[in-house]
Amino acid sequence: MKNLMVTGGAGFIGANFVLQTLHKYPDYQVIVYDKLTYAGNTDNLLDVANNPHYHFVHGDICDAAAVEKAIVNYGIDTIVNFAAETHVDRSILNPDAFVQTSVYGTYVLLEAAKKHGLRYHQISTDEVYGDIPEGYSSVEDDPLRPRSPYAASKASADLMVQAYHITYGLPITISRGSNNIGPYQYPEKVVPLFTTNAMDGKPLPLYGDGRQKREYQFVGDHCEAIDLVLHKGTIGEVYNIGTGVEFENVEMVEILLDTVGRSHDLIKHVTDRAGHDRRYSLNIGKILRLGWEPEHTPEDAVRKTVRWYMDNEWWWRKVRDQDFDKYYEKQYGERLKS
Ligand code: NAD
Ligand code: DAU
Repeated sequence: MKNLMVTGGAGFIGANFVLQTLHKYPDYQVIVYDKLTYAGNTDNLLDVANNPHYHFVHGDICDAAAVEKAIVNYGIDTIVNFAAETHVDRSILNPDAFVQTSVYGTYVLLEAAKKHGLRYHQISTDEVYGDIPEGYSSVEDDPLRPRSPYAASKASADLMVQAYHITYGLPITISRGSNNIGPYQYPEKVVPLFTTNAMDGKPLPLYGDGRQKREYQFVGDHCEAIDLVLHKGTIGEVYNIGTGVEFENVEMVEILLDTVGRSHDLIKHVTDRAGHDRRYSLNIGKILRLGWEPEHTPEDAVRKTVRWYMDNEWWWRKVRDQDFDKYYEKQYGERLKS
């Protein structure tokens, strides 16, 4: 494993993974293959822009010819697929691109991996298990019960990846991560959205009663676990990656506001997300047994993330542009009026 194609590598987790990989394995070549949708941002990769081991290819994973060309040109031996449409609220407004990229795009990558005999790793999510009742944590061979168009598109991709392993013997692994937070996350997701709103004294639109539970994990910890699965995971297997610690959204928001130094009065309860999953919870025994443990507690992860946004206004003010404002109005305009 020396020539990695990181699809979706200009996005939040992908970019953190690329930065970490180039630092950790100075003899690897890392080829970022990315469509640069609204969520893709080459600013996330500025730290490696002049690294001769880093290359950028602008392309869509649904474009089989372009994928093939990149694989041949760079002698790719491994694909790590982060590329996806990733925001649940946008999948409710318009699922089309979610199906295209996660279902068809994953199939295109799998075909290319089969043709060229590549190792393949799929980045998946705890959302594929659906809403989890209190007292239970999902294990890797649980049935998939996705409930949003986003989660359904990711579950479909997982099933296709597993089918390519079973049918064609493709050497695959899959990791299912919980909510990541940290540097370079597009500010539609709750932690960067609320941090940047709080910095500007704007209300924080908390869905419903705010008592939904998520496992917020620091992105660097998640990337370390992906690296471990890539190098030491058993072929054909799935690995959950989380913290084992659940947080209610309201608890997360209070830490966030205290770190920014703003009043809790900025919290505004608004109409809930349609079909909102109340709780995700991962059993992480398998990844712990492989030799990983998270470095950050969820509290530390929230504080460290908030501080990054406070220190990096240059990054997020560029990203909160006119298109962002249009999306914000569509998603929150009515909600914030009532
Ligand atoms: P992101 O939205 O920040 O980035 C997605 C990247 O994929 C962008 O750079 C975008 O340009 C690229 N992309 C989208 N469609 C593409 C296409 N058709 N061809 C090529 N590139 C394309 O996403 P993220 O939050 O970094 O998530 C990365 C992966 O991790 C996704 O697969 C997501 O489902 C999964 N995941 C995310 C989280 C989380 O908390 N953010 C948790 C678990 C799993
Ligand atoms: O669990 C992993 C998933 O985490 C990833 O697969 C997804 O790509 C990623 O977007 C994330 O999904 P969530 O829907 O959990 O993340 P989001 O940041 O959108 O929301 C986190 C929680 O905060 C969720 O319970 C909804 C709530 N929320 C979110 C937003 C954007 C609010 O209360 N208000 C908001 O404005």
